Amino acid sequence: MDLEPADPPSGRWVDLLPELARRVVHPAVFSYVESGSYGEVSVGEATDAWRDIRFRPRVLRGHREVDLRTVMLGTEVSTPIGIAPTSMQRAIHPLGERAVLAGARAAGALCGISSNAGTRFADLGAESPWWLQVYLPERRELMLPVLEAAAEAGASAIALTVDTPFPGTKYAAETGDWTGIDLGWWRVNFADPEFDRWAPDLGPDDVTWLHERTGLPVVVKGVLRADDACRCLDAGAAAIYVSNHGGRQLDRAVSTASALREVVSAVGEGTEVYVDGGIRSGLDVLAALALGARGVFLGRPVLHALAVDGARGVERLLAELTAELGQVLHLAGCGNPGDARELLQEGDSAVT
Ligand SMILES: Cc1cc2nc3c(=O)[nH]c(=O)nc-3n(C[C@H](O)[C@H](O)[C@H](O)COP(=O)(O)O)c2cc1C
Repeated sequence: MDLEPADPPSGRWVDLLPELARRVVHPAVFSYVESGSYGEVSVGEATDAWRDIRFRPRVLRGHREVDLRTVMLGTEVSTPIGIAPTSMQRAIHPLGERAVLAGARAAGALCGISSNAGTRFADLGAESPWWLQVYLPERRELMLPVLEAAAEAGASAIALTVDTPFPGTKYAAETGDWTGIDLGWWRVNFADPEFDRWAPDLGPDDVTWLHERTGLPVVVKGVLRADDACRCLDAGAAAIYVSNHGGRQLDRAVSTASALREVVSAVGEGTEVYVDGGIRSGLDVLAALALGARGVFLGRPVLHALAVDGARGVERLLAELTAELGQVLHLAGCGNPGDARELLQEGDSAVT
């Protein structure tokens, strides 16, 4: 039977989210969210790269249940599945970041909040852990009051995004008609939202500078290579966040599933490594954990869930994927996320 456009599609809710969101989000905003950069190769490959990974399940391990609690940079969370920082949240739901953070809190998850957030940090109502994502402006000092406000509002770490000397061109989103979208909430934590451009010349000193100025641990987001991961650690990074920005910066960048292996091998067991990009199921998360990630982050699915049902939608998304992860960990003979490190093909270990 053909569904009328107004009928909700049926199937796994997480798979239905993009279509459910498309029905309620302004078309230009939806197109912006979905798009990748240039020819959209990287965004198209992301999920398949996780699906290509095969496991060696363990048996006879005596696990009655799975304990999903995880420590992410010193903070205990109920799930290793967190929320990637994204802009546009106020264009998708009136409560924007506040709803996303409330959903994260309900699910016991960690939340990234964008530099471009549409909500003042002081208004986040943050009673759950969050990291401030930082794009550094060319005049670095313009960031100081923003960093201070974030620290006062409870940010527990800085995720410095290093793959964005400028925004990658997104042809698919360029033709959108933004009539009816009030951008008054854009980048509200800066004194002047149109201040400047983002720094096109980030270097290791910026990692050191951020750590020294804030005293907070700095996670470097956007690393795809072993040598860069090591340079980040030399500059004082506390953790590495493997990301190709959801395929929105350099198109044809390698998948994060393939880069994760290289980065984990380079930094060794003592360094926390995080990853995002195309993660859509508990099995995708299992693959990331098997490759050595401490935790994963979701970008677009959170925006879809936010559009469909606000904070409750975000909570449901995290809860459903966390439940799936619990199932597949148990099926793989693992009692906790850390056990997943043993699931790769023999001779295929992420840490050499
Ligand atoms: C609409 C949108 C806005 C984003 N805004 C930011 C941002 O402000 N800062 C940032 O570091 N990454 C940003 N990202 C990238 C995400 O943090 C994340 O790396 C990516 O979405 C993960 O891939 P996924 O969407 O396939 O889960 C954005 C992504 C999207 C889709």
